[in-house]
Amino acid sequence: MSAESFDYSTLLRPDLPPAAARWAGFPAYNFVGGHNDAASVPIEELAAAAARVLQRDGRQLATYGLDSGPLGYRPLREFIAGKLARDAGISCTPDEVLITSGSLQGLDLVNQVLLAPGDTVIFEQATYGGAITRVKRLGVDIVGVPVDHDGLSSQGVRKALESLGRRGIRPKYIYTIPTVQNPTATVMSEARRTELLALSRAYQVPIFEDECYADLVWTGKRPRALRAMDGTDRVIHIGSFSKTIAPALRIGYLVAGWPLLSRILGIKNDGGSGALEQMILAEYCAKHFDAHVAALRTTLRGKLDALAGALEAHFGTTAEFEYPAGGIFLWVTLPKPVDTTRLAQLALQAGIAINPGAEWMTDAEPGRSRLRICFAHASPAVLQEGIARLAQVCRREFDVPPVAGAVHR
Ligand SMILES: Cc1ncc(COP(=O)(O)O)c(C=O)c1O
Repeated sequence: MSAESFDYSTLLRPDLPPAAARWAGFPAYNFVGGHNDAASVPIEELAAAAARVLQRDGRQLATYGLDSGPLGYRPLREFIAGKLARDAGISCTPDEVLITSGSLQGLDLVNQVLLAPGDTVIFEQATYGGAITRVKRLGVDIVGVPVDHDGLSSQGVRKALESLGRRGIRPKYIYTIPTVQNPTATVMSEARRTELLALSRAYQVPIFEDECYADLVWTGKRPRALRAMDGTDRVIHIGSFSKTIAPALRIGYLVAGWPLLSRILGIKNDGGSGALEQMILAEYCAKHFDAHVAALRTTLRGKLDALAGALEAHFGTTAEFEYPAGGIFLWVTLPKPVDTTRLAQLALQAGIAINPGAEWMTDAEPGRSRLRICFAHASPAVLQEGIARLAQVCRREFDVPPVAGAVHR
């Protein structure tokens, strides 16, 4: 029996976001969020790693911070520092790595130490919805700059910095997802990285680099991180194990110099991020990370091809997209008459969940006919069936794709 209800409505703080809906299970065709391939979760190896690490270090669970202090389990920080040096060119010590509860906590922590209401930040115009909502909730202004095939437009950033400068505004940071951008999946070119860093230096505006997809570039070779190229503490770097191992683990990390990290630690007063997850990941990743991620990339690419084929078969030329350089998302543009926010509502009634583009843009209007599809979780068969059904819903409501225009195979 549930407890008698109590009316909290008059007690709630006035600036809360809308109430959450109760979870009603996943829809049959679940193409939203960052869920990953279930069959790729390395269950046996994680279980073996858990047994080994608990036998060896389990008594450390008796202390907050696992005898490693507030930055997190030291063997995991050592793994991350070593991997970032090898793969992303970042030179940092384990004491410049903070383990966070997912990179979402990294976003929150950086925002909490840097942002106050009325501040301004520069974002990629198409970007991670979770980053947009967080910053908006803090009463911070976002200036969106276009992203193209080569990543964030440095010319656009220059214009934004100049125009803000004329109004006496120094933005708090430039937020970018340079390698396998969410949602466009583009990889920022080396030239753009250099230009962006020069602007950051000239205008003394830090860069906030969010890299949770960088290990999922199809070539297996991620470019040097902005933090590596800069060589100063002007770039804050965050990453995550959500897209490479499993999102439910809730383990991410933040790399920054001690002057900023010490301020961040001052507000990360949560007693430490999940201890078992940190221990198991450290034990597992040291031996298995590279082989696991290489296999995952192959699986994901196969699913992407299934999705691309389904879009071609059921939407024909009405669905435009650039083939992603890696990752788990496809960013699709439909013809102008399609309002993807409305399409997402109708599709959900038919059991298909998609992310409407407006939620992934700093200005909703340019995202009106775009949508983001996550291809990592669904099987190729479910992707194909779901896209066929999505095309039916879209045709019924918007006459897109038109019956004659679709290329049926
Ligand atoms: C760009 C970006 N940053 C951060 C996150 C948050 O990831 P997590 O908290 O699972 O590490 C996501 C999740 O999709 C993302 O796409």
